[in-house]
Amino acid sequence: MSVKPKSKKALVVKNVTKAFHDKTKILPTWLRRDSQKTKFFAVNNVSFSVKESEIFGILGPNGCGKSTLIRMISTLLLPDKGEIRVFGFDVIKEPEKVKEFINRVSVEASFFKRLSANENLLYASRIYGLNPKKAKQKFTQILKELGFPLNKLNQPMENFSRGLQQKVSIARGFLTDPVMILLDEPTTGLDPKSKLDVQRFIKKIHREQGITILLTSHDMEEVDRLCHRIAIMDKGKIIALGTSQELKKLVNNEDVYVLNTSDNQKAMHILKQIRTIKKLRLDDNRISFCTKDLDSVMNILTTMLRKKKIRLRSFSQVKPTLEDVFLKLTGKPIIDKECELEKEVEF
Ligand SMILES: Nc1ncnc2c1ncn2[C@@H]1O[C@H](COP(=O)(O)OP(=O)(O)OP(=O)(O)O)[C@@H](O)[C@H]1O
Ligand SMILES: [Mg+2]
Repeated sequence: MSVKPKSKKALVVKNVTKAFHDKTKILPTWLRRDSQKTKFFAVNNVSFSVKESEIFGILGPNGCGKSTLIRMISTLLLPDKGEIRVFGFDVIKEPEKVKEFINRVSVEASFFKRLSANENLLYASRIYGLNPKKAKQKFTQILKELGFPLNKLNQPMENFSRGLQQKVSIARGFLTDPVMILLDEPTTGLDPKSKLDVQRFIKKIHREQGITILLTSHDMEEVDRLCHRIAIMDKGKIIALGTSQELKKLVNNEDVYVLNTSDNQKAMHILKQIRTIKKLRLDDNRISFCTKDLDSVMNILTTMLRKKKIRLRSFSQVKPTLEDVFLKLTGKPIIDKECELEKEVEF
C-alpha cells in the first residue's frame, strides 16, 4: 500500500446523517411538491469509532440503516451531515486515499453472471493490478478455506446459489489484503455450514493479519461470537454501544438464577426468608430470583432443603443474550423478516 495512515484510529464516524425520500409515501397534492414532507433519516446523527485491528459489529434489524452507513464509509454515498475518517482520511475530501485502505463485501455484489468464478476473480485481480498467477493461488486458497467446492470454480456464476456467490464475493474482498474490510451482512441467507465457514474464515484472517473489520448483521449470535465491540442500531440511530458484556449489563445488573426442586412451593417459602434475594418468582415449575450474594443464598438454601427433605433437581445462572438487550432497549425483537423503518416525516 502506497498511502501511510494519518491516524492510528481506523475509523471515526462523527454526527453522520443521511436522509432519503420515501417515494412510496402518499401525500395530499398540496404537499407533494415539498420534498421535506417525504424525507426520512436512514442514518440519524451517528457517531462511533473503530480501533485498528478491532472487529466492530453493527447490529440492527432490516432497514435500520446499516448498509447506508457502510456505503458512506466506503465512499459510495455522500453523508448529508457529519464527518467520516478512515485512518485519518476524509471520505468526502480524500476518497481515493480512503479506498487504499478499505474493501467492501456486500450482499448486492455485482459479477459477470455468465462468466465463471475463476474468470470473475481473475478479472478483479487484473483491475487491482495483481499478478494473475499469484492472485489465482490466493483466491483458490481463500475459497478452499471458505468451503467453496473448487470443482465449481469454472462454472458460470449464474448457476451458483446465493451462498456460493457470497463466498466468491468474500474472496474478492480479501484479494488485495485490505487494511480494513467492511463486511455488510456477510452471512445473511447462508446455510448453517456456510455460515460457520465464513465466520471461521473471518476469525482466522483477523488472527493472522490483524485486519480491522467492520461487520453488520442482524444475527445476534454471530455478532456476539465475532465482535470485540458492538453498536446496536435502530431506526437510523445507535441506541447502545459497548462490548457484549457491557451491553448485556443493560438488561440486568444483577445475576439471575433459576432452579427446580421436588417441592417448589416449599422451596419458595424458604427462599422468601432470605433477605438478599430479590425478584423471586415461581412460574411453570421454575423458580427464578436475583441475588448479589449467591454463596450465602446457597448455604442457607441447601441446608434448609436438606432439613425439609426437598431435592434440588436443577440450578443454573441465566445469561442474558443480545436479543434480550435489543428487546429491552426497543420493546421489539430483531426479526429476520422485512421490517419497516418508521420514517420520520415532519409536517
Ligand atoms: N437510495 C435510497 N433511496 C431511498 N431510500 C433508501 C435508499 N437506500 C436505502 N433506503 C432506505 O433507507 C432505509 C435504510 O436502508 P439500509 O439499506 O441502510 O438498511 P439496512 O439496515 O442495511 O437493512 P437490511 O438489513 O435489510 O440490509 C430503508 O428504509 C431503505 O429502504
Ligand atoms: Mg443492508
